[in-house]
Formats: sequence, C-alpha cells, structure tokens
Amino acid sequence: MTERTLVLVKPDGVQRLLVGRILARFEERGLKLVGLKLVRIDRALAERHYAIHRGKPFFEGLLDFITSGPLVALALEGPNAISIVRTMVGATRPHEAAAGSIRGDLAVETAQNLVHASDSPETAASELALWFSPAELLDYEREVDRWVLAPEE
Ligand code: CMP
Repeated sequence: MTERTLVLVKPDGVQRLLVGRILARFEERGLKLVGLKLVRIDRALAERHYAIHRGKPFFEGLLDFITSGPLVALALEGPNAISIVRTMVGATRPHEAAAGSIRGDLAVETAQNLVHASDSPETAASELALWFSPAELLDYEREVDRWVLAPEE
C-alpha cells in the first residue's frame, strides 16, 4: 500500500553535515521525496510535535534540543513507506539500533539520535499535516518508478 511518512533530520544531523547522506539513503532505497524544507521551529510547534512525550523527564530537554537550530523535514512516499523508513532509521536508542540503520551507523546517544520518523499511519497523517501544508506536498511522476515499483494491476 502506498503511504506517506514524515522524517525529521534533527538539528544534530544538520550540524554534523549529514543531511545529504541521510536523504540519499531514502532516495537510494526508492522512496519518493514529496516534501522538503529547512526550518527552525518555535517551541509551540515542538510541543505539538512531541505532545505524546509531555510529562516525561526528558520532555523539556527534547524541546530545547529540537528548537536549538535548523532541521530538515522530509515527506517520503512509497509502498509501506512508514515501516520501511522506521527500519532504516533504527531503534530510538542507538545502542539498540541495528548496524546498517541510520542510528546504528551514525549515532550513539538517544537525545542526539539524528532523525525522527512517524511510527504509524495515524501518526504519519497527523505529523505530515503539522509540518506541511497541502500545497507543500507534491504529486509528480518519476521515470525511475517503472523500475522501482511493481506495475499497477
Ligand atoms: P524521536 O524519534 O525524535 O522521538 C522522541 C525523542 O525523544 C526520541 O527520538 C529521542 O531523541 C528523545 N528521547 C527519548 N527518550 C529519551 C531519553 N530517555 N532521554 C532523552 N531523550 C529521549
């Protein structure tokens, strides 16, 4: 099933010059880039994005971190994009992330784990709506998709 999902390359990814390499992993996998922006978010958006973590001991630090500098928001599309991206990103705690995943290859700390990715269809829908207006999510054809995607039945 074709899905769309949100990925954030968080401020540590921007500061560590990893935006291009992280984006390339998703492109090389075959996922389609349908939205892209560099933003420095305010605390209000950070609180909405991480609302599920309100009340946890790391919540204020998480808000400080995610608002500390620019980040890159990506919207990616593809068959089973949500679970494909989650697997590519790896476990939240980098010491539990599989080698070959972004966190397993590039991160060592939970608070500086480089990327955020939507964890379910419901979360993907609400997070995409939070980060992108409808006009910022593009529909377009890719020639390469005849080699990446199975033909429609
Ligand atoms: P992310 O996928 O962006 O979703 C919530 C984030 O909270 C998570 O990645 C981590 O960066 C951060 N996080 C989760 N647990 C902890 C923790 N115990 N201490 C600090 N940060 C945490």
